[in-house]
Amino acid sequence: MGVITNLTRMWLTRSMKPFLFQKEYDRQLFYEECRELGLYIHIPFCRSICNFCPYCKVLYSQEMCSRYVDALLKEIRLVGEQTENKKTVTSLYFGGGTPALAADRIKEIICTVEEYFLITEGIGVELHPDNVTIPLLQTLKDAGVTRISIGIQSFGDKYQKILGRKPVDVAAMGEALQKVNFETVSMDFIFALPGQTFNDLKFDIDTAFQNGANHIAIYPFIDFTFTTSRVSAMPKREKRCLLDAVTAYCGEQGYVRNSIWTFSSGENSGYSSMTRENFLGFGCSGATLLRDQFKINTFSTEEYIRCLEQKRLPTSLTLRFSLRQRMIYYLFWTAYSTRISSRDFEDFFGVPLKKMYGLELKVAKMMGFVREENGNYQMTPKGAFYYHYYESYYTLSYIDKMWGIMKEEAFPECISF
Ligand SMILES: C[S@@+](CC[C@H](N)C(=O)[O-])C[C@H]1O[C@@H](n2cnc3c(N)ncnc32)[C@H](O)[C@@H]1O
Ligand code: SF4
Repeated sequence: MGVITNLTRMWLTRSMKPFLFQKEYDRQLFYEECRELGLYIHIPFCRSICNFCPYCKVLYSQEMCSRYVDALLKEIRLVGEQTENKKTVTSLYFGGGTPALAADRIKEIICTVEEYFLITEGIGVELHPDNVTIPLLQTLKDAGVTRISIGIQSFGDKYQKILGRKPVDVAAMGEALQKVNFETVSMDFIFALPGQTFNDLKFDIDTAFQNGANHIAIYPFIDFTFTTSRVSAMPKREKRCLLDAVTAYCGEQGYVRNSIWTFSSGENSGYSSMTRENFLGFGCSGATLLRDQFKINTFSTEEYIRCLEQKRLPTSLTLRFSLRQRMIYYLFWTAYSTRISSRDFEDFFGVPLKKMYGLELKVAKMMGFVREENGNYQMTPKGAFYYHYYESYYTLSYIDKMWGIMKEEAFPECISF
């Protein structure tokens, strides 16, 4: 696996230089000039820990959560104070963990963000199904939240059991969603679980859209090496059949594919913190992607709080991109939206996409992975499957290694790929 990813990286970046993440510290984050900037805030607390989950999370305690939010406000100020004028950003997303465990302070966090940033496209919060109650939804709505995403995983009890989660109370959830409305109500599902069939997924999709969702995300199950889950991933051929069947079904129902993993029933519903050209991440494990650098905060909540008490940013690792590395990073994440615009690429880098990756795009067209329409590249279902496949591969080669190390060490010296 390592040989293939290394060769692909060398070919696409035209260099032997690896992606090198180092323990380096910059006080200044150069985001003022970035267009298309998104914000992400990580709240790492959960009431119980799911053994398949790779994210940065710890068991909830009120005392720890309160110290954490105090530190988070300090981080927002340290970063926000770096520009003179309010910076316009697209969106703000809260992820976790279970951000609703800090619901009583969400308004305070949003107000602090709004002292420095002007949010133009809305505010999203990730929820656990247990959070979907009328009072909690109302608290979020009153704080200015416009989008929610609920981690359902499956409406089938059998699969919840496989994942070690309890069944979702669909009626109570549907009722709460009817009473408190949001622009986007997204529901997350995991597919390619052992024994899962198209009918199981069809049931998930139908139940979601019948009970308040206008957007769904269907993630392939990934068996991270550092989690203790015993669930094994589905073989490639079966997975492809399932994904093709789900894509065709959503198309027949009139749902629009907004990205590799997401479908929506309404034109204005969207939920994605990932497809921005640049983003600033706050909170432990928060990642920041700017023009020339990628940074990731420490995964340790104690160290995170300690850094901010000392008025330091909680950066753990920094990657300084070469131009080709940044281009590959840009293309990889933009392709997640199933479309690549030559114009946006040229606006961002100042060079035509065809000049930099003409050969690769020609091969991708010949292989049936993309179609070209007026300088835009639209991924075909075949292309989407291979992207899906490569993304899982990338996750297991890079993210698995990085997060595995960062879970153990608050400030590793260096990680290279
Ligand atoms: C932070 S969690 C969601 C919010 C909330 N904490 C919950 O559990 O409902 C984000 C989503 O990542 C997905 N996810 C978690 N672990 C995964 C894995 N091993 N493979 C694929 N998707 C996973 C799940 O769909 C989950 O809803
Ligand atoms: S899946 Fe959600 S609830 Fe479970 S450990 Fe991960 S973040 Fe926490």
